[in-house]
Amino acid sequence: MAGPKTRKTIFSGIQPTGVLHLGNLIGAISLWVREQDKHDNIFCVVDLHALTIPEAIEAKRLRASSLDVAALYVACGIDPDKSIIFLQSQVREHAELAWILNCVTPMGWMNRMTQFKSKSEGQESVGVGLYAYPILQAADILLYHTDLVPVGEDQRQHVEITQDIAQRFEGLFGYHFTRPEIMVQKVGARVMGLDDPEAKMSKSSTNPRHAIGLLDEPAVILKKLKSAKTDSRTAVDAEDPGAGVRNLLTIYHAFAGGSWDEALRRFDGQGYGALKTGVAEAVIAGLEPIQRRFHALRSEEGELMAMLGRSAEAAAARAEATMRDVRAAVGIW
Ligand code: TRP
Repeated sequence: MAGPKTRKTIFSGIQPTGVLHLGNLIGAISLWVREQDKHDNIFCVVDLHALTIPEAIEAKRLRASSLDVAALYVACGIDPDKSIIFLQSQVREHAELAWILNCVTPMGWMNRMTQFKSKSEGQESVGVGLYAYPILQAADILLYHTDLVPVGEDQRQHVEITQDIAQRFEGLFGYHFTRPEIMVQKVGARVMGLDDPEAKMSKSSTNPRHAIGLLDEPAVILKKLKSAKTDSRTAVDAEDPGAGVRNLLTIYHAFAGGSWDEALRRFDGQGYGALKTGVAEAVIAGLEPIQRRFHALRSEEGELMAMLGRSAEAAAARAEATMRDVRAAVGIW
């Protein structure tokens, strides 16, 4: 690397399966946007990872879904002039490094991966790709000598195995990859499911009332929030809000700005119906410009593809620099 690095390299990825929701925006993307001037940012749409559950993807839709996610990144405020936003499959080095790392990663380590266990449960036939998923993720991270990986707590094991793989690779071949650290968002940024305020909002829930999609229409947003689970009380108690009410306040606070105390005071003593309407108004108003920008970007697919092409070139230049040394280290061409 040329000279000392002044900014930390951040890498994160989102799978283009299912629509992004409020949890992705509040818990992840909005923080990336806020910090984007501080770091050297690389945001990836991990379409190769989406292939690990072939039953769950619609192949014809996958290309479009990847463009949707990329456009949403931009619509939410990630600036392609400041951050690299690219499609994983457009930088072939990800698959190449993943193969090399496959060959050095002991099966014993992989057998401990808890996400593989939960994701493969109930599936009739499980592809080898799902088993090797964390190794592809390690390749994503290591290719760019990433310092920080901003992801949810559920990804900790994947970041740790990335460190282990880097260390083993160095022991075997003498090549040093930067050891990445996980960067976990603080608890306040965690959005829970509307149907179950004990579980993090996730893309994989089958309950249509679980999450608010970033592209949901106003009427749908209102309906989902109206049916959000609260508790047996009827009015907001700012001193002691239950998990469901606290989650609604978290969502409100994220969109309305201001302090957490202001959000509490605004709704203290109000009925849950009024709370839900107030939250819906804030969410609808907050998502409107994002949706408008998204549709504008998606209607100019040529321009979007050109932007992604430029970003992929920038990513590939860096990935290629790493791979030149890695290939030499392991003795391939
Ligand atoms: N496994 C991550 C998730 O499901 C997605 C991902 C793939 C990722 N590659 C990555 C996240 C690299 C951070 C860095 O959320």
